[in-house]
Amino acid sequence: MARRTTQYVCQTCGAVSSKWAGRCESCGTWNSLIEDSDGGPLASPGLKPGKGRVIDLQPLAGTTEDAPRTPSGMEELDRVTGGGFVRGSAILIGGDPGIGKSTLLIQTAAAVAESGRRVVYVSGEEAIGQIRLRAERLALGEAAVALAAETRIEDILATVSTGTPPDVLIIDSIQTMWTETVDSTPGTVTQIRATSQALIRFAKRSGTTVILVGHVTKDGQIAGPRVVEHMVDAVLYFEGDGAHRFRILRSVKNRFGPTDEIGVFEMSGKGLIEVPNPSALFLGDRDAASPGAAVFAGMEGTRPLLVEMQALVAPSPLGTPRRAVVGWDSSRLSMVLAVLDAHCGLKLGGHDIYLNVAGGLRIIEPAADLAAAAALVSSLAQAPLPADAVFFGEISLSGAVRSVAHASARLREAQKLGFSKALAPAGNIAEAGDAPPIPIDPIESLAGLVARIA
Ligand code: TYD
Ligand code: MG
Repeated sequence: MARRTTQYVCQTCGAVSSKWAGRCESCGTWNSLIEDSDGGPLASPGLKPGKGRVIDLQPLAGTTEDAPRTPSGMEELDRVTGGGFVRGSAILIGGDPGIGKSTLLIQTAAAVAESGRRVVYVSGEEAIGQIRLRAERLALGEAAVALAAETRIEDILATVSTGTPPDVLIIDSIQTMWTETVDSTPGTVTQIRATSQALIRFAKRSGTTVILVGHVTKDGQIAGPRVVEHMVDAVLYFEGDGAHRFRILRSVKNRFGPTDEIGVFEMSGKGLIEVPNPSALFLGDRDAASPGAAVFAGMEGTRPLLVEMQALVAPSPLGTPRRAVVGWDSSRLSMVLAVLDAHCGLKLGGHDIYLNVAGGLRIIEPAADLAAAAALVSSLAQAPLPADAVFFGEISLSGAVRSVAHASARLREAQKLGFSKALAPAGNIAEAGDAPPIPIDPIESLAGLVARIA
């Protein structure tokens, strides 16, 4: 007999459990489990094995055209998506409330419309008047974007399914949408899953690119709908903090393009401005003469990016000295400190240590080890680093400095910004070639770097 099994879904992380509990076992949130009203398909009675349709299997070998794309009209966005929005795909753009998602999307909508394509922007958060006001402030008041302030998914789909489907449909935000097919409030996992599914189905059927906005919780998860991340073709995060003007659009999943590219924007009084040369911006107000600042020649995807790493090392009055890191991995810092202690004899156990990546950028490359170490040693020794040098290289536990990828691109970028040497792994000299843009001053080991600075 067909029987629908009851399941409980955590409204914060989307974990599914067969029995109710006061606290989600997966993410630890209290009172977040709710009985799921559409617990999977109902096995239809009387359906015997062997009744399925025979699928026409295709050979793996064969040719398929590149997915057709709609250019977004914004170069930084095209870079992150891998060359524009793929037709029929669904994209999730996540970010903290107030970071600028709606601003980015109204600007994108206007840019897409500018190229003669049809864009529908549906807001569940703002009234038409508010959206118009924002567009006027951004000098986009005349853009040919079709607007709606709606939250019921049946109405939205009926509207966009009438006549020619739009090229791009923007839903701001998925947390405000609801469908009457499920019986729970908007913003719950059940609603988000059902509305996303309906929108994604529409995207596949019509060839429209559907862009979903999702708010992120404090701990960096897209509130409720982690489930949506698995359903969509691409997930982009819009990052930055209120204290800085920079906003970074980072791709964390992309079925049709790269996942390590970033787009850089600056939030201004007239909306988001694309930043084609972020290095210049991130090094903008640098104080090269102060100890504890090292310029890291980094890479974000295919694009080199120079940023300043700043360290402050000072004797601590506390029993347990403070360690604070902004923009870098704290376990990576612990590792560099351990290597400085074990192989270079620098005892930092009694020091407070602060490490900061300037401009609000977040660095995830191990190649930043050497720059971080240089900043730390420079601060400890109160000796400024050479103002014309950049740093890159990975530090191993043995204290050796290992070569990293893309040395040539890093050197070229450093030369463009007026630097004249790179303190970098000896192993990268060969890759840089006979006539490198700027010479590599080879660093074999961390002890070698310390001897150079102190
Ligand atoms: P918004 O796009 O509404 O954020 P989200 O949709 O992610 O919640 O951005 C709101 C913030 O951006 C708000 O704090 C004001 C700021 N902002 C500017 O600084 N300049 C502008 O031109 C606009 C439109 C917004
Ligand atoms: Mg918004």
